[in-house]
Amino acid sequence: MRIVLVGPPGAGKGTQAAYLAKNLSIPHISTGDLFRANISQGTDLGKQARSFMDAGQLVPDEVTIGMAKDRMAQPDAEGGFLLDGFPRNVGQAEALDATLSGKGVALDAVLDLEVPEDEVVKRIAGRRICRNDSAHVFHVTYNPPKTDGVCDECGGELYQRGDDSEETVRTRLEVYHRETEPIIDHYRAQGLVVTISALGKVTEVTERAMDALKQSQG
Ligand code: AP5
Repeated sequence: MRIVLVGPPGAGKGTQAAYLAKNLSIPHISTGDLFRANISQGTDLGKQARSFMDAGQLVPDEVTIGMAKDRMAQPDAEGGFLLDGFPRNVGQAEALDATLSGKGVALDAVLDLEVPEDEVVKRIAGRRICRNDSAHVFHVTYNPPKTDGVCDECGGELYQRGDDSEETVRTRLEVYHRETEPIIDHYRAQGLVVTISALGKVTEVTERAMDALKQSQG
């Protein structure tokens, strides 16, 4: 399957993507994670992305679209993928549509995670991520690690993302409403959008998402 995951910052896209990708046997492709990996490796791409990410703004399309296309062209993504954080504006959605139709394939679904704004602020404020693997995501209250500051999965150090400050989160939410929400209408016009509530336990949301995806294909 070729799926796009959409939702505000902190909705739980990364958390759900890890489970959904495993259940569906497709790679989880997160442009945010790709940028963060480039930043930690000190690449030119990472240097270009950093100031935009720190400010909570979108990294320019010239940089983002090429990086996403390169990742989708890897052999593991040939049979499908779960995109998390891409596309993030209508220009990126149109670029993705053109890339897929050029290959004679298409998206199967756009899974829209709905969460009230006060909940996403709480989720982001308590989020802690493993330095070794960004798929290892915790929350100080909702999903605390067994030992404070230490990843349960691999023992890595847990840290708080630089763009998770209250001020930057406010900017990221504004950018989401202005730039990203319009892609939901773009894909609704193609009959691809499946909206679910992302409230409740992580496992409950995964079940809801799997059911909704199955129904959308039925
Ligand atoms: P990105 O990394 O994509 O961040 P985001 O979209 O803001 O989303 P987050 O990672 O903040 O949240 P999430 O929805 O994945 O939530 P999570 O699962 O971690 O992008 C960062 C930046 O990169 C952007 O601002 C931009 O600058 C740049 N960028 C990336 N892609 C780009 C693009 N395409 N174009 C241009 N720029 C781009 O969960 C959050 C917390 O909640 C965790 O602590 C988790 O444990 C907890 N949680 C999850 N689910 C539940 C639940 N059901 N109940 C309770 N707690 C939960």
